[in-house]
Amino acid sequence: MPNAPLRDALPGARPSQLPDSPPGAPRTLPPGALSAATHPGLPAASARGLTKVYGRGETEVDALRGVDADFAAGEFSAIMGPSGSGKSTLMHCLAGLDTPTSGQVIVGGQDLGKLNARALTRMRRDRIGFVFQAYNLVPTLTALENITLPLDLARRPVDRDWLDGIVRTLGLGDRLKHRPSELSGGQAQRVACARAVITRPAVVFADEPTGNLDSVASHQVLEFLRASVTDLNQSVVMVTHDAAAASHGDRVLFLADGKVVGHLVKPTRDSVLDTLRDLAVQGAA
Ligand SMILES: Nc1ncnc2c1ncn2[C@@H]1O[C@H](COP(=O)(O)OP(=O)(O)OP(=O)(O)O)[C@@H](O)[C@H]1O
Ligand SMILES: [Mg+2]
Repeated sequence: MPNAPLRDALPGARPSQLPDSPPGAPRTLPPGALSAATHPGLPAASARGLTKVYGRGETEVDALRGVDADFAAGEFSAIMGPSGSGKSTLMHCLAGLDTPTSGQVIVGGQDLGKLNARALTRMRRDRIGFVFQAYNLVPTLTALENITLPLDLARRPVDRDWLDGIVRTLGLGDRLKHRPSELSGGQAQRVACARAVITRPAVVFADEPTGNLDSVASHQVLEFLRASVTDLNQSVVMVTHDAAAASHGDRVLFLADGKVVGHLVKPTRDSVLDTLRDLAVQGAA
C-alpha cells in the first residue's frame, strides 16, 4: 500500500477541501465543505426511530428498538456492539437492502421510505456503496469487471483516471484479469472496496470488511477506507468487532440489544476498549 495520500494517486480527484486542523483537534466540517456527492450540511445517512422486528409470535426478534443516529458526511464512522446487537440490521436498513419495521432512513437527503422500488434500486446502485464481510464478488467476472459493474449496470462511462487511481492505490494493477477464485481474501476485499467507491457514492457502508482478513490485508483495507474519507471527502460507515479497526474512524457508535448505548469521538484503540468494558459492566448490572 503506497503511503502517498489518495488524492495524489487519483489524478481526477480534487484535493481535500478541509482546512488543516491541529493534530488531535476534533475535525469539524465547515458548511459547504462537503463532497459534491453529498448534500452540504446534511449527514450522509441518518436513522430516526428505527425499529426492525424479525419473525412473528414466539420466534419474534426485536433487532432494532428505536435507533436514532446521524453519520456525518465526509467522516469515517464505526459501529460496534456485541454479536446480535443489530449492527448488520442497521447497516442493511441504512443501505436500503432491508426495510425497517418503522422509522425513517435518510441517505444523501433522500427518505428511502418514500422511494418506489425502481427509485430505491437506482439509489442503491448510484449513491450507496456496500462492502460485505464475504466480499460478494461475481465469480464469473474478472476483478476489473467486478469493479466497474455498478457503472456498467447504470450504463455510465468509466472515468479512467478515477479507476486507475483506485486500482493503483489498492495495489490491484496485476490482478485485474483474475477471477475472484484466483484472488486472495485481501485482494478480493480490495476489489470489493474499489467496486464500492467507483460510483463516488454519497456513502459507503462496510459490514465487518476486515472480518476475514489477516492483519496486513486488514490494514490495507482500513487505510483505503480512511484515505477515501480524508483525501476524497467520501463518507464511510463501517461495522467492526475490532477496536484497532474502529480507531481508524472519526467516531464510534455503540449498539447493544438493538439500541444506541454510547458514542466516542476521535477514538483510540484504548478508549474503544475502555468503552466496551464499561458497556459490558453496565450490561451485566
Ligand atoms: N433474517 C433474520 N431473521 C430472523 N432474525 C434475524 C434475521 N437477521 C437477524 N436476525 C436477528 O436479529 C438480531 C440482530 O442481528 P444482526 O445480524 O443485526 O446482529 P449483528 O450485531 O450484526 O451480529 P454479528 O456481530 O454477529 O454480525 C439477532 O438476534 C439476529 O438473530
Ligand atoms: Mg453482523
